[in-house]
Amino acid sequence: MGHRVGVYRRMDRRDMGETTEKKAAVVTGVAGFVGSHLASRLLELGFGVVGVDNLFSGKLENIRSMQGRPGFSFYRRSVTEPGLLPQLKAEHPHLNYCFHLAAIVSVPYSLDHPQETMDTNCTAVVEMLRQAEALGFRAFVFAGSAAEYGTDQRLPLLEEYADDDTVHLSPYGLAKYLASRQVGRSPIGVSLRCFNIYGPLQDPSSPYSGVISRFIRMASRGEPITIFGDGLQTRDFVYVSDVVEGYLRVACPDPSHPEIQPGVYNIGRGIGTSILDLAALIRELTRSSSKLSFLEERAGDIRHSRADISALERATRWRPRVDLADGLARTIEWMQGTRD
Ligand code: UD1
Repeated sequence: MGHRVGVYRRMDRRDMGETTEKKAAVVTGVAGFVGSHLASRLLELGFGVVGVDNLFSGKLENIRSMQGRPGFSFYRRSVTEPGLLPQLKAEHPHLNYCFHLAAIVSVPYSLDHPQETMDTNCTAVVEMLRQAEALGFRAFVFAGSAAEYGTDQRLPLLEEYADDDTVHLSPYGLAKYLASRQVGRSPIGVSLRCFNIYGPLQDPSSPYSGVISRFIRMASRGEPITIFGDGLQTRDFVYVSDVVEGYLRVACPDPSHPEIQPGVYNIGRGIGTSILDLAALIRELTRSSSKLSFLEERAGDIRHSRADISALERATRWRPRVDLADGLARTIEWMQGTRD
């Protein structure tokens, strides 16, 4: 456990537009799947990192390799606590970036706990944004979601399609939409609407875990691969290092794009893959003889989801680099090396 694969291409610090200014970032949700990758990358780039997580869904094992490293501190706190950012800034005066990833991450949980979801995924975000502005932060980057598009089936999904007429399927989608809208209007705010992220450190153990981590586990164990519905639904899968790179690009642009460009951007790969094709690819890569088991379609499941990623490409010259087969191979290597 705690083993890391080389998911990131070597990058010179100048790639991230490093100046002599000392950089330090708050990463909320630091013990989560994406937050822990982001924090680790920030440390590699020479940032100080103040990680915050209440461990509701995050896991300490995800940050164990960072604990004790110079420049990293961890606070077990909830982002709903009033005055959190000013307190952190008082203890770490160099803080000037905030990556806000902490959230209620389960859509089904949000249906059962709508108020808690609105408090955490919307009200607390807007409050933290206000504090970041008041404290003079350079950037506030928020983890939005493809769920902000609700039932919209105009593909590929353009950022402008999510608006006040959008029909959201869950408090999760609604809260993320409202928070993104607010963040995107701030002079320091960027919301990245994440499509289906996968990669090492994604937990396969819950029924609500991402489909890729679940399928790899089932295939590796020779268990039946569970397909909800006919398997022809499609998703836009994006590898975690590409998402981390996107977070960095919008917050710390390179020297040729020196200004952060506030707004709301999709981050995906722009390619739809059906769940059946995904299962076939994973069976092949794991050399598994698992059978497919077709189950009832999942309530609230979106049929198709695919991002238009041209806005982020134009604004930052970000490009997804890891294709699905490569990303799956890396994820399989990690899961088989540490889990089974
Ligand atoms: C994902 C995110 C969610 C986000 C949404 C935005 C995860 C875990 N969830 O939801 O937070 O709001 O994108 O687009 O990343 N499936 C199977 N068999 C399984 C598991 C899943 O067939 O064993 C199917 C599901 O029915 C679904 C697809 O795979 O059609 C993807 O499921 P999942 O990985 O849970 O992600 P989303 O529901 O797209």
